[in-house]
Amino acid sequence: MSIYYSLALAIFLFLAVDSTASAASEGVQVTYGSTIKLMDEKTKFRLHSHEVPYGSGSGQQSVTGFPDVDDGNSYWIVRPALNSSEKQRDSIQSGTVIKLQHMGTRRWLHSHLHKSPISGNNEVSCFGDDNQSDTGDHWRLDIEGNGKTWRQDQKIRLHHIDTGGYLHSHNKKYSRIAGGQQEVCGMKAKCADNIWLAAEGVYLPVSERKEKSPADLNISK
Ligand SMILES: *[C@@H]1O[C@H](CO)[C@@H](O)[C@H](O)[C@H]1NC(C)=O
Ligand SMILES: *[C@@H]1O[C@H](CO)[C@@H](O)[C@H](O)[C@H]1NC(C)=O
Repeated sequence: MSIYYSLALAIFLFLAVDSTASAASEGVQVTYGSTIKLMDEKTKFRLHSHEVPYGSGSGQQSVTGFPDVDDGNSYWIVRPALNSSEKQRDSIQSGTVIKLQHMGTRRWLHSHLHKSPISGNNEVSCFGDDNQSDTGDHWRLDIEGNGKTWRQDQKIRLHHIDTGGYLHSHNKKYSRIAGGQQEVCGMKAKCADNIWLAAEGVYLPVSERKEKSPADLNISK
Protein backbone atom coordinates (compact mmCIF):
# COMPACT_ATOMS: atom_id res chain seq x y z
CA MET A 1 0.00 0.00 0.00
CA SER A 2 2.99 2.32 0.38
CA ILE A 3 2.69 3.40 -3.24
CA TYR A 4 -0.81 4.70 -2.48
CA TYR A 5 0.42 6.45 0.60
CA SER A 6 3.20 8.19 -1.29
CA LEU A 7 0.81 9.02 -4.08
CA ALA A 8 -1.62 10.57 -1.61
CA LEU A 9 1.20 12.54 -0.08
CA ALA A 10 2.38 13.68 -3.49
CA ILE A 11 -1.15 14.75 -4.40
CA PHE A 12 -1.32 16.74 -1.20
CA LEU A 13 2.01 18.38 -2.01
CA PHE A 14 0.87 19.06 -5.54
CA LEU A 15 -2.30 20.75 -4.33
CA ALA A 16 -0.25 22.79 -1.89
CA VAL A 17 2.11 23.89 -4.66
CA ASP A 18 -0.70 24.42 -7.13
CA SER A 19 -2.64 26.85 -4.95
CA THR A 20 0.35 29.19 -4.86
CA ALA A 21 0.69 29.01 -8.64
CA SER A 22 -2.97 29.64 -9.45
CA ALA A 23 -2.28 33.17 -10.62
CA ALA A 24 -0.73 31.76 -13.77
CA SER A 25 -3.23 31.71 -16.60
CA GLU A 26 -1.64 28.77 -18.40
CA GLY A 27 -1.97 25.13 -17.37
CA VAL A 28 0.54 23.32 -15.23
CA GLN A 29 3.48 21.91 -17.17
CA VAL A 30 3.73 18.17 -17.70
CA THR A 31 7.29 17.25 -16.71
CA TYR A 32 9.27 14.01 -16.74
CA GLY A 33 8.55 11.92 -13.68
CA SER A 34 4.97 13.24 -13.41
CA THR A 35 2.29 10.59 -12.85
CA ILE A 36 -0.79 11.45 -14.86
CA LYS A 37 -3.99 10.19 -16.40
CA LEU A 38 -4.65 10.73 -20.09
CA MET A 39 -8.24 11.36 -21.11
CA ASP A 40 -9.55 10.72 -24.61
CA GLU A 41 -11.02 14.09 -25.53
CA LYS A 42 -14.14 12.77 -27.24
CA THR A 43 -15.16 9.81 -25.06
CA LYS A 44 -13.67 11.12 -21.76
CA PHE A 45 -12.40 7.60 -21.01
CA ARG A 46 -8.98 7.31 -19.34
CA LEU A 47 -6.03 5.39 -20.82
CA HIS A 48 -5.84 2.27 -18.65
CA SER A 49 -4.01 -1.01 -18.23
CA HIS A 50 -4.25 -3.99 -15.89
CA GLU A 51 -2.89 -7.51 -15.55
CA VAL A 52 -5.20 -8.94 -18.17
CA PRO A 53 -3.55 -10.27 -21.34
CA TYR A 54 -5.08 -9.87 -24.78
CA GLY A 55 -6.84 -13.03 -25.88
CA SER A 56 -5.67 -12.35 -29.45
CA GLY A 57 -2.75 -10.69 -31.24
CA SER A 58 0.43 -10.52 -29.14
CA GLY A 59 -1.15 -11.89 -25.96
CA GLN A 60 0.62 -9.07 -24.08
CA GLN A 61 -0.93 -7.06 -21.27
CA SER A 62 -4.01 -5.25 -22.54
CA VAL A 63 -4.54 -1.49 -22.67
CA THR A 64 -8.08 -0.10 -22.68
CA GLY A 65 -10.11 3.05 -22.20
CA PHE A 66 -11.68 3.11 -18.72
CA PRO A 67 -14.94 4.92 -17.89
CA ASP A 68 -14.43 5.75 -14.19
CA VAL A 69 -12.31 8.71 -13.22
CA ASP A 70 -11.10 7.18 -9.95
CA ASP A 71 -9.07 4.17 -10.93
CA GLY A 72 -5.48 3.64 -9.85
CA ASN A 73 -4.72 1.58 -12.93
CA SER A 74 -5.09 4.65 -15.15
CA TYR A 75 -1.89 6.34 -13.88
CA TRP A 76 1.08 6.64 -16.24
CA ILE A 77 4.54 7.98 -15.45
CA VAL A 78 6.03 10.25 -18.12
CA ARG A 79 9.57 9.05 -18.90
CA PRO A 80 12.33 10.16 -21.29
CA ALA A 81 13.11 8.15 -24.42
CA LEU A 82 15.88 5.57 -24.38
CA ASN A 83 19.34 7.20 -24.42
CA SER A 84 17.82 10.62 -23.79
CA SER A 85 19.66 13.00 -21.47
CA GLU A 86 16.40 14.49 -20.18
CA LYS A 87 15.98 14.50 -16.41
CA GLN A 88 13.15 14.22 -13.91
CA ARG A 89 11.17 17.51 -13.77
CA ASP A 90 12.45 18.77 -17.13
CA SER A 91 9.78 20.34 -19.31
CA ILE A 92 8.81 18.60 -22.55
CA GLN A 93 8.62 20.27 -25.97
CA SER A 94 6.26 19.34 -28.79
CA GLY A 95 7.97 16.85 -31.11
CA THR A 96 9.89 15.14 -28.29
CA VAL A 97 9.92 11.34 -28.14
CA ILE A 98 8.76 10.09 -24.75
CA LYS A 99 7.75 6.86 -23.02
CA LEU A 100 4.81 6.20 -20.70
CA GLN A 101 5.24 3.69 -17.90
CA HIS A 102 2.10 2.15 -16.38
CA MET A 103 2.38 2.88 -12.66
CA GLY A 104 0.66 -0.25 -11.38
CA THR A 105 2.54 -2.86 -13.42
CA ARG A 106 5.72 -0.92 -14.40
CA ARG A 107 5.23 -1.92 -18.04
CA TRP A 108 5.61 0.46 -20.99
CA LEU A 109 2.90 1.72 -23.32
CA HIS A 110 3.84 -0.20 -26.46
CA SER A 111 2.56 -0.76 -29.98
CA HIS A 112 3.35 -3.00 -32.94
CA LEU A 113 1.77 -4.45 -36.08
CA HIS A 114 -0.42 -7.07 -34.35
CA LYS A 115 -4.10 -6.34 -35.00
CA SER A 116 -6.17 -4.72 -32.27
CA PRO A 117 -9.02 -6.98 -31.06
CA ILE A 118 -12.11 -5.02 -32.14
CA SER A 119 -11.25 -2.70 -35.03
CA GLY A 120 -8.19 -4.44 -36.51
CA ASN A 121 -5.94 -1.39 -36.26
CA ASN A 122 -2.51 -1.72 -34.62
CA GLU A 123 -2.60 -3.28 -31.18
CA VAL A 124 -1.49 -1.12 -28.22
CA SER A 125 -0.21 -3.16 -25.29
CA CYS A 126 1.87 -2.85 -22.13
CA PHE A 127 5.24 -4.58 -22.32
CA GLY A 128 8.64 -4.82 -20.62
CA ASP A 129 9.57 -3.65 -17.12
CA ASP A 130 11.90 -1.20 -15.34
CA ASN A 131 14.95 -2.82 -16.96
CA GLN A 132 13.51 -3.85 -20.28
CA SER A 133 12.40 -1.35 -22.90
CA ASP A 134 12.80 -0.95 -26.65
CA THR A 135 11.91 1.46 -29.44
CA GLY A 136 8.41 -0.06 -29.57
CA ASP A 137 7.84 2.02 -26.41
CA HIS A 138 8.64 5.31 -28.17
CA TRP A 139 5.88 7.88 -28.79
CA ARG A 140 6.30 11.38 -30.20
CA LEU A 141 4.41 14.14 -28.42
CA ASP A 142 2.50 16.32 -30.92
CA ILE A 143 0.84 19.33 -29.30
CA GLU A 144 -2.13 20.67 -31.22
CA GLY A 145 -2.10 24.29 -32.30
CA ASN A 146 0.88 26.47 -31.50
CA GLY A 147 1.80 24.89 -28.18
CA LYS A 148 5.52 24.40 -27.74
CA THR A 149 5.81 23.18 -24.15
CA TRP A 150 3.49 20.46 -22.84
CA ARG A 151 0.88 21.84 -20.41
CA GLN A 152 -2.11 20.22 -18.79
CA ASP A 153 -4.71 22.17 -20.78
CA GLN A 154 -3.33 21.28 -24.22
CA LYS A 155 -4.70 18.83 -26.72
CA ILE A 156 -2.05 16.32 -27.70
CA ARG A 157 -1.52 13.35 -29.96
CA LEU A 158 0.96 10.55 -29.32
CA HIS A 159 2.50 9.24 -32.52
CA HIS A 160 4.10 5.81 -32.31
CA ILE A 161 7.57 5.93 -33.83
CA ASP A 162 8.01 2.35 -35.10
CA THR A 163 4.57 1.92 -36.68
CA GLY A 164 3.43 5.50 -37.43
CA GLY A 165 0.12 4.92 -35.60
CA TYR A 166 -1.55 7.52 -33.41
CA LEU A 167 -2.70 6.49 -29.94
CA HIS A 168 -6.44 6.21 -30.49
CA SER A 169 -9.59 5.32 -28.62
CA HIS A 170 -13.21 5.22 -29.64
CA ASN A 171 -16.62 4.05 -28.57
CA LYS A 172 -15.99 0.37 -29.37
CA LYS A 173 -16.47 -1.59 -26.18
CA TYR A 174 -15.36 -4.97 -24.89
CA SER A 175 -18.14 -7.18 -23.67
CA ARG A 176 -16.40 -9.91 -21.68
CA ILE A 177 -13.16 -9.74 -19.66
CA ALA A 178 -12.87 -5.96 -19.75
CA GLY A 179 -16.62 -5.33 -19.93
CA GLY A 180 -17.60 -1.69 -20.41
CA GLN A 181 -14.05 -0.68 -21.28
CA GLN A 182 -13.28 0.54 -24.76
CA GLU A 183 -10.64 -0.35 -27.28
CA VAL A 184 -7.36 1.56 -27.47
CA CYS A 185 -5.36 1.05 -30.66
CA GLY A 186 -2.82 2.61 -33.01
CA MET A 187 -4.52 4.38 -35.92
CA LYS A 188 -2.69 5.49 -39.08
CA ALA A 189 -5.13 8.32 -39.78
CA LYS A 190 -4.87 11.57 -37.87
CA CYS A 191 -8.38 12.29 -36.59
CA ALA A 192 -10.41 13.71 -33.70
CA ASP A 193 -10.36 10.36 -31.90
CA ASN A 194 -6.61 10.55 -31.36
CA ILE A 195 -6.72 13.64 -29.18
CA TRP A 196 -5.83 13.25 -25.51
CA LEU A 197 -5.71 15.60 -22.53
CA ALA A 198 -3.54 15.31 -19.42
CA ALA A 199 -6.09 14.98 -16.60
CA GLU A 200 -5.76 13.99 -12.92
CA GLY A 201 -2.26 13.39 -11.62
CA VAL A 202 0.82 14.38 -9.72
CA TYR A 203 2.55 17.05 -11.76
CA LEU A 204 6.14 17.52 -10.63
CA PRO A 205 7.15 21.20 -10.72
CA VAL A 206 9.66 22.18 -13.40
CA SER A 207 13.24 21.90 -12.19
CA GLU A 208 15.18 25.11 -11.64
CA ARG A 209 17.94 24.03 -14.01
CA LYS A 210 18.82 26.75 -16.46
CA GLU A 211 17.29 26.64 -19.91
CA LYS A 212 19.14 24.29 -22.21
CA SER A 213 21.61 25.97 -24.52
CA PRO A 214 22.91 24.25 -27.66
CA ALA A 215 26.15 23.52 -25.79
CA ASP A 216 24.25 21.49 -23.17
CA LEU A 217 22.78 19.30 -25.85
CA ASN A 218 26.17 18.62 -27.34
CA ILE A 219 27.43 15.64 -25.41
CA SER A 220 31.19 15.36 -25.76
CA LYS A 221 33.31 12.39 -24.79
C1 LIG B 1 20.75 3.31 -27.04
O1 LIG B 1 22.15 3.09 -26.92
C2 LIG B 1 22.51 1.73 -27.08
C3 LIG B 1 24.00 1.62 -26.79
O2 LIG B 1 24.73 2.59 -27.50
C4 LIG B 1 22.16 1.28 -28.50
O3 LIG B 1 22.51 -0.08 -28.67
C5 LIG B 1 20.67 1.45 -28.70
O4 LIG B 1 20.33 1.14 -30.04
C6 LIG B 1 20.24 2.87 -28.40
N1 LIG B 1 18.79 2.93 -28.44
C7 LIG B 1 18.14 3.89 -29.08
C8 LIG B 1 16.67 3.80 -29.02
O5 LIG B 1 18.68 4.81 -29.68
C1 LIG C 1 16.02 -4.40 -12.51
O1 LIG C 1 17.40 -4.40 -12.21
C2 LIG C 1 17.69 -4.16 -10.85
C3 LIG C 1 19.19 -4.04 -10.70
O2 LIG C 1 19.85 -5.07 -11.40
C4 LIG C 1 17.09 -5.29 -10.00
O3 LIG C 1 17.33 -5.06 -8.65
C5 LIG C 1 15.59 -5.35 -10.24
O4 LIG C 1 15.01 -6.46 -9.55
C6 LIG C 1 15.28 -5.49 -11.73
N1 LIG C 1 13.85 -5.36 -11.93
C7 LIG C 1 13.15 -6.20 -12.70
C8 LIG C 1 11.70 -5.93 -12.79
O5 LIG C 1 13.66 -7.14 -13.30
